[in-house]
Order: sequence, then C-alpha cells, then structure tokens
Amino acid sequence: MNASALGKLSALPRVRLAHFPTPLEPLTGVSRVLGGPSLFVKRDDCTGLALGGSKVRKLEYSLGGAVAAGSDVVLVSGSIQSNQARLVACAAARLGLRCVALLEERLDDMPGGYRYSGNVLLDRLFGAEVRIYPKGTDLDAEVDRAAEQIRAAGSNAAVVRGGAPEPHGVVGYAAGALELFQQAAERELRVDAVVMASESAGLQAGFLAGCRALDARTRVLGVSAKRTAAAMEASVHALAVRTTAFLGLDHPVPREAVEVDDRFVGSGYGYPASSTIEAMAVAARHDGLVLDPVYAGKAFAGLIAAVRERRFRAGDNVVFLHSGGAPLLFAYAERLDALE
Ligand SMILES: Cc1ncc(COP(=O)(O)O)c(C=O)c1O
Repeated sequence: MNASALGKLSALPRVRLAHFPTPLEPLTGVSRVLGGPSLFVKRDDCTGLALGGSKVRKLEYSLGGAVAAGSDVVLVSGSIQSNQARLVACAAARLGLRCVALLEERLDDMPGGYRYSGNVLLDRLFGAEVRIYPKGTDLDAEVDRAAEQIRAAGSNAAVVRGGAPEPHGVVGYAAGALELFQQAAERELRVDAVVMASESAGLQAGFLAGCRALDARTRVLGVSAKRTAAAMEASVHALAVRTTAFLGLDHPVPREAVEVDDRFVGSGYGYPASSTIEAMAVAARHDGLVLDPVYAGKAFAGLIAAVRERRFRAGDNVVFLHSGGAPLLFAYAERLDALE
C-alpha cells in the first residue's frame, strides 16, 4: 500500500472488535454449477462481532475516534432491522458504553418478525436502549435532539448515523481491500474482479479507495440494494474521492472505476425479489453460504447474472465480498416462502 496512506491509516485511533483476517475461500460448488470464472468468497460475514458483517471494519475506526474523544454514550440510527445498529450495540457493550438506537419502521408492510426478531432482537440483547419511530420520521433531527439531551445531562455522546458514511470510518474498508489483496498475493491468486452489495456507498467507496492506494486495477462491481445505478455511482465516486484525499493520496479514484448494477433491487429496498431468493438458495445449497434477503442476497443475484451474461472471462478469478447480514433472514422468514 502507498506508504503515506498506510501511515495515515495506522495513526488513526482504532478499537479492535473483529476477527481479522476473515477467510478467503473458493466457491467450488457455485463455480461448478454456473460455469465460467472461478468464484471465491471473502468471508466478512465471519468478522466475529455480533454474528459478523463488514460494517465492523468501519466501526473499528469510527468508534475508535469516539473512545479517543472520551465518549461514554453512542447513538446509532437506521431501520428497525439495521445491521449497523446491531454491530454498534454489541461494540458498545464490549467497550462499556451506553447505546441508544433510534430505529425507523422503514417498510410499508413489515414482515411479522420485522419488529421483534433479527437485528432488533440482538440490539435489545446487547442492552441498547431501543427507540422506534414511524416511517418518514426525520431521524437525523431526532438523533440531534437526543444527542443534545444526553450532552445536556453531562454525558459525552458520539453519533453513528445510518446512511452517512464518513472517510474516517470508511477507511476501514480500504484496510479490508489491503487484507484481501495480501491474502491473494500469499496464494499467488490474481483477483480480476470483486463483487459486493452497495447501499449507503461506504463499503464500495472504501474498497475502491483501498484499491487506489494499492494501485490495484481490479474491477469492483457494486450491486445496489436500493438506489439507481446513476445515483449510487455518483455517491460512491464522491465518497471514494473524499476517502483517497483523507488518506493523503494525490491520485483520486477515477469515475470510470465506479460500476454499479441496479437490476437486482426488485420492488425496492428491503423487499427480496425472486432473483434474491434464487441467489440465496444457490449459495446455501452449493457452498453452504448464508446470505440475507436485503443486501448480500441481492449482490449474489448480481454476481450470478454477471456470470450468466459472460461479463467475466472464463479464466477470471472473481471474489464475492460477503458483507454479512444473516440476522435479517429471521426477521424476513415469512417473505421467504419461495425457498422450497
Ligand atoms: C450486510 C450489508 N451488506 C452491505 C451493506 C452495504 O454497505 P454500504 O451501506 O456501506 O453501501 C450493508 C449496509 O447496511 C449491509 O448491512
């Protein structure tokens, strides 16, 4: 990695929360049934904290900053089934911080388990104070109000907002790219492409910034869980440029390196499409991978389609970055009838 970027990264305050490095494994079964490139999986679903997920890479830095600043309370916002909120709740328990989770009912028709199972169940288990708001609430304003009240009572509150990733946390995903390319180099494995879910842009932007710091020309394909490709690409590019600048790199991520496929969102964020359910079954039945119906399931549907459409060469090595999210499976159980 570029020496100044590495220096910047290692100087940042950080708390250790996860099991790194996560495994890099071949997807032997799925590669066989699909044909074409050799598929691999980077197991960020196995980061250890609170049943895993990529977001802990970001939280090691953003909560590291909060701890260094003397915070004793952390507020987190998101949907009722926010993976990030679950990870923050667990990290707060580990770090001895109070956690307040401000969660929105983000779907019009919530599956039965949405309000009490999956991530929100774990938030409560980790001792977070859970506050639920109706769909359409201005959650940012609620977070500001709650933080103000907590500060007025004498506490030092840190805030982790859903959907607003900042370079000082996003650099964690750049470190994740470094980890993946080191593992690949040790095995003399050339990585031609990496495929991942994309929603608030942090994961893909950070990973691209890491590729830039490493001067890696690997293709990075984001699969949208929510927004159009044009909107996602603009957000990912803007955040990747801010992240490379934060790392002190004078060559930003070029616009043409940002690629997002939005064909697998289905009827909207948080609603699994038939391609999502097919992808979950393929991954589970041929390689034993557990994918969620909101992020990783849609991303894997994008990977399957890209292989079928021959968007990779037969000799390519393609890595699926499994970003976690398994608790969602249980919140969505009644929407997964098609799994037969
Ligand atoms: C499991 C999982 N994968 C992928 C993503 C997408 O990451 P990002 O929001 O950084 O684009 C999320 C975001 O919540 C997630 O929870």
